[in-house]
Amino acid sequence: MSDRIAPLASRPAWKALQQHAETIRPQQLRDLFKSDPERGVRFTAEAGGIFLDYSKNRITDETLKLLMDLAAQSGLKQRLEAMFTGQKINTTENRAVLHVALRAPKSESIIVDGEDVVPAVHAVLDKMSTFAGRIRSGEWKGHTGKRIRNVVNIGIGGSDLGPVMAYEALKHYSQRDLTFRFVSNVDGTDFAEAVQDLNPDETLFLVASKTFTTLETMTNAHTARDWSLAGLGGDESAVARHFVAISTNADAVAKFGIDTANMFEFWDWVGGRYSMDSAIGLSTMIAIGPDNFRALLAGFHAMDVHFRTTPFEKNLPVLLGLLTVWYTDFFDAQTVAILPYEQYLKRFPAYLQQLTMESNGKHVTLSGEHLTTQTGPIYWGEPGTNGQHSFYQLIHQGTRLIPCDFIGFYKTLNPLGRHHDILMANVFAQAEALAFGKTAAEVSAEGVPEVLVPHKVFEGNRPSNTILADALTPETLGQLIALYEHSVFTQGVIWSIDSFDQWGVELGKVLAQKIIGELESPTQPTLAHDTSTTNLIHLYRSHK
Ligand code: F6P
Repeated sequence: MSDRIAPLASRPAWKALQQHAETIRPQQLRDLFKSDPERGVRFTAEAGGIFLDYSKNRITDETLKLLMDLAAQSGLKQRLEAMFTGQKINTTENRAVLHVALRAPKSESIIVDGEDVVPAVHAVLDKMSTFAGRIRSGEWKGHTGKRIRNVVNIGIGGSDLGPVMAYEALKHYSQRDLTFRFVSNVDGTDFAEAVQDLNPDETLFLVASKTFTTLETMTNAHTARDWSLAGLGGDESAVARHFVAISTNADAVAKFGIDTANMFEFWDWVGGRYSMDSAIGLSTMIAIGPDNFRALLAGFHAMDVHFRTTPFEKNLPVLLGLLTVWYTDFFDAQTVAILPYEQYLKRFPAYLQQLTMESNGKHVTLSGEHLTTQTGPIYWGEPGTNGQHSFYQLIHQGTRLIPCDFIGFYKTLNPLGRHHDILMANVFAQAEALAFGKTAAEVSAEGVPEVLVPHKVFEGNRPSNTILADALTPETLGQLIALYEHSVFTQGVIWSIDSFDQWGVELGKVLAQKIIGELESPTQPTLAHDTSTTNLIHLYRSHK
């Protein structure tokens, strides 16, 4: 399909945007608001209770029109239909991309290789629900007959970041007499600290790995097995009560020693970073319960429907995605700051880093040509207001343009005196300060000595989106995640890249395998690296 789409630089809308950007760059948000007082109300959109104010962006109606033209000329509509209908749009891996099937209602049918995948999705969800119910009620007993009190998810990347983010985000809804831990790093400290106060006979490990071959996860899983067995008297049969697997690879699960009856399946058409709503979300379901998990899925699905059916002008993921392309390619913006004003979303920026950067950190098009434009920006962020007291200085007065996404809620889950009003006042204040700043004349008028005026000027004209929702519920979280998933998709379509492969992680993995042998070799290994790597290996060997 991409073959029918002209290269980005020769799409008419792209050329028009290049010219148009010249006229927009000198314009000030201050003036744009002055000349169009309705702008703050007009440049907004809403989907299922998620409200997006994108008026504080350096755009006009003409910009939006050209960005919409670009989406059309890039085949966004056709590409998203191709995704939703199970076509193999992940061409470098020859796979369908169907995270949307993970939240499709039972009544839908999505065909991949001649088979409807929706019934299998619901069968796994039902199996997860039964299992989660047994853990939550205490019916599932460990090897020594005690109920499970601790759930440790072992996984990395998409098999960790989604689960840990969702656990933190939805802690308010979690069963508080269960303890959840997440082990990802191959650094033994991660495992050691996660289990140091846990009792093996009350601890269940969820080994989460799409491939069930990932070095970090397999190393941690083996360590967990040893730790469990050591604490449970060494009886191999204990594994069945204390380990379950979440994977697409039944053979490797069986080889590890986990009964495939205790395996929760997913499929190769679910990308790791798009898998938190598959069986990879088992820890989430145990924490918040099957009903809340289904509400989470309903939120995802609501945003899927919005993305698929809403005209692009009112389509939240399309707007967010196109604005990111606008700043990345026409304003030389290198990053996007994600600033949730919600403590429960503290891991949301980290989660989005994999989603966005593993997806769109690509330098060639689908057909393998080197891109001449910038692609995936660096996503980063911290919850407000903490960020205000560390890096916001650079966003307000530094030399770089950093588009920001502020995320806030009308209601808090922990109403405590004035806290929430104070928190939300900061969202609105920061976005206002970034956009409109403070001129030298305004600073001088306050009696500031001339010598200090330049230091106290806020140039403004710094763009942001404000995303608001009622309260952080499972459903809202699903909507928010799907919003960014589809924004990433939109960006990838404009850049004509494969947002669903991740070849860039391979080389380091292969080299590490080789170097592990060299570090562990009892005799001096013959090294064939560059002089720097060789020297570092020698140093390590002589000091370890
Ligand atoms: O190395 C990157 C990656 O493949 C991610 O895409 C993935 O989420 C992560 O590793 C973990 O993979 P797995 O779930 O197969 O262990």
